[in-house]
Amino acid sequence: MRAVRAVCARHGKPLFLDACRFAENAWFIKLREPGYEGTPIVEIVREMFSYADGCTMSAKKDGMANIGGFFCSNDDAVARRTSAAALGAAPPVGSGRGRMAASG
Ligand SMILES: Cc1ncc(COP(=O)(O)O)c(C=O)c1O
Repeated sequence: MRAVRAVCARHGKPLFLDACRFAENAWFIKLREPGYEGTPIVEIVREMFSYADGCTMSAKKDGMANIGGFFCSNDDAVARRTSAAALGAAPPVGSGRGRMAASG
């Protein structure tokens, strides 16, 4: 993920994660990536998301909900445009740095 972030930065492109299965992927990192065996899952997850400008998530994955999903962006303008396009102009929720559009 670090390498992908570096490529995106080099080309001035944002990086959006498909956050489905983030918990399992964090667990696989803990099991398989040298240097992460003693790192708490929550720290691995924080590092994973620190490389991203936002994410999409089918929220029924990872036991969060039984239906619905969301899109998140650290860029309010991107969140507003995406929310309007995807949700028929419903306003994004959240405030400050980063917004979220949700459906379900
Ligand atoms: C990594 C990942 N992304 C996206 C999806 C698509 O989710 P949905 O079928 O809820 O749209 C899945 C489904 O299993 C998935 O595992």
